[in-house]
Amino acid sequence: MYKIKNMKKNDFNPRFRWGAATSSFQIEGNIDADGKLESIWDRFCKIPGKIKDIEHVEAACDHYNLWKEDFDLLENLGVNSYRFSISWPRVVQSDLKQANQKGIEYYDKIVDDLLSRNIDPFVTLNHWDIPQKFQDKGGWVERESIKYFLDYVDIITNKLGDRVKNWITHNEPWIIAYLGYNEGTHAPGFKSLQKTLAVNHHLLLSHGLSVPIIRENSKNSQVGIALNLTPAYPASSSQADLEAAKLFDEQFNAWYLDPLYGKKYPKNIIECWKDRGELKNNFDFIHDDDFKVIAEPTDFLGVNYYSRAIIRCPKTDMHKNLPIEIVPGEKTKFDWEVFPEGLEKLLLRLKKDYSPENIYITENGASYDYNIQEMGKINDTKRIEYLESHINACKIAVEKGVPLRGYFCWSLMDNFEWAEGLNHRFGLVHVDFDTQKRIPKHSYKWYQQFLKNEINI
Ligand code: GCO
Repeated sequence: MYKIKNMKKNDFNPRFRWGAATSSFQIEGNIDADGKLESIWDRFCKIPGKIKDIEHVEAACDHYNLWKEDFDLLENLGVNSYRFSISWPRVVQSDLKQANQKGIEYYDKIVDDLLSRNIDPFVTLNHWDIPQKFQDKGGWVERESIKYFLDYVDIITNKLGDRVKNWITHNEPWIIAYLGYNEGTHAPGFKSLQKTLAVNHHLLLSHGLSVPIIRENSKNSQVGIALNLTPAYPASSSQADLEAAKLFDEQFNAWYLDPLYGKKYPKNIIECWKDRGELKNNFDFIHDDDFKVIAEPTDFLGVNYYSRAIIRCPKTDMHKNLPIEIVPGEKTKFDWEVFPEGLEKLLLRLKKDYSPENIYITENGASYDYNIQEMGKINDTKRIEYLESHINACKIAVEKGVPLRGYFCWSLMDNFEWAEGLNHRFGLVHVDFDTQKRIPKHSYKWYQQFLKNEINI
């Protein structure tokens, strides 16, 4: 077990951001309210079999109506920051050019309310629920469509940029591209490697193009992107496993980090994809000048960390005689190994290889089942242990010189977990999806006490 140090909140810099995170589609519900356009996730959820359990999915947490109550919980938690996302289809009209005033007003009052509670908004511009209309125009597959995203960024940063000072362009481009266009398990549900690679590239390009717009509309703001980073550990010290782990790292992590930090795409991976029949060397969507745009300097890197990947060389004939040297530890309900050391190592590697000025953990958390005990109490000890050990990893990384400036727990409350429906509970607050009743879990109380500096880990 990872050694937990004796530490408390006050060991961190007083300006350290402590927060919780959510995203629009996962909590808001009310998918047709106030002129909202259809999103690709609205449509995807209607395809039979795509979402594990669709009961209550449309309502999600009804946060569109219950946001005040949820912000009371947020305020009582004692965080100084809150990460949420804007639903692009809520804030534009069907030409994708003009603002939808009602949608804008919703986020306007949310931002004002947060600020009145001394909670700083960290706003994600794209947490996946893009307008179906954008998709119909080609969406992320088409270079031409990027202009619609930039129009939206212009509209929303113009409206909120005087008060919102922390912006995240995209959330987890890997998930958008691979699950949405290669695996087909996320919206819009394609299965095409060619599309996947183009989507990846256009997400990065649109990130770079949007940064100057945000800076122009939101003076003195901080801009970054949130990546899901999963460190790769070779299953054994054999050459085959070492190489497989390297390739995984390039496909999963460096494919984003390298171009964002001025190194273009990892060469090895382009070579590897060129071999895949379907592509036929068709990398026309990459223009040389794009890399300058993608590497537009940002203020921070957002890291979503959940676990590591243990990588075994996929060729069975090669791994027959390989020793097994890593035995995975305990897992969460998602079958993700609890591995806080991975977070510490990842942060150190980011500092060494990419030197970002600032890093935020923009997501970290765990899904666990539990029983509601008498008197409506929820003792989610496992989540507390998970959070403790990962905050501890943050502390160690800070001591080793990593410019880590904040930690956002995923998530404030149980919510819609994409293809898994409402079956995975990541929240500090339990949501009863039949009644929309909220019940703070023990982990909520634990985080609250930690934030009051009343807990030594
Ligand atoms: C993601 C998203 C979140 C998820 C969370 C748990 O990483 O997939 O940013 O929307 O809900 O990560 O899977």
